[in-house]
Amino acid sequence: MIVLKTKRELDLMREAGHISAVALKLAGEAVQPGVSTEEIDRIAYEYIKKCGAEPNFLNYNGYPATACISINDEVIHGIPSKKRIIKEGDLVSIDLGARINGFNGDNAATFAAGRISPQAQRLMDTTREALYEGIRAAVAGGRVGDIGAAVQEYAQARGYSVVRDFVGHGIGSKLHEDPSVPNFGIRKRGVRLMPGMTLAIEPMINEGSYGVKTMPDGWTVKTVDGKLSAHFEHTVAITPDGPVILTKA
Ligand code: MF3
Ligand code: CO
Repeated sequence: MIVLKTKRELDLMREAGHISAVALKLAGEAVQPGVSTEEIDRIAYEYIKKCGAEPNFLNYNGYPATACISINDEVIHGIPSKKRIIKEGDLVSIDLGARINGFNGDNAATFAAGRISPQAQRLMDTTREALYEGIRAAVAGGRVGDIGAAVQEYAQARGYSVVRDFVGHGIGSKLHEDPSVPNFGIRKRGVRLMPGMTLAIEPMINEGSYGVKTMPDGWTVKTVDGKLSAHFEHTVAITPDGPVILTKA
């Protein structure tokens, strides 16, 4: 069931989105060689709590942390650990969200640890831009397939592949709501986009094949071929005036 939000509810979601975005920004600024992924997780946790909000990934289906921190060939859902030390050249994807006022924010970005390779930089830039292509396609009267097609065409034109096994989603009083928002698709197909819909658009883009596999920890998802992956996400509202990014710092 798709839940449409009123203007007042969108304002409440904007607050959840803002806290999520600042937490992500602070976490990203802490990405440096020598820092553990647990330290980064703690920065996000403390900021979210300080705002009077709750980290909405924590305990979600048993997930044990505030953030998902996924490095290099890890695509998503990497579990922060004090044993996992970031090193020079790593591509570090951080995904996190906050809940306040009964509403959720969800956002992700990939950060460079020190100097990264030109290949890693290009993947990161392409994935960020693919997210914005998807957001630009998120207009009332269009369809969910318009978003996926925009992301997919942009990424594939640059020689990359789009992860199929994980997708974006509706978001609101629940972290995951209908509809699913794949990062691939066909224009004019799928659910009709309507004012009041709130979507987490989140391309996961791979340097090699789109195949992924889940690790024995039950969470960490890696590329099957060991090549790099990047991930960017915003929570976006469909409005009569076009898409509005709710996860703004
Ligand atoms: N960040 C994921 C998403 O964007 C949700 C993470 S699942 C969790 O949908 F269990 F790690 F919280
Ligand atoms: Co999400």
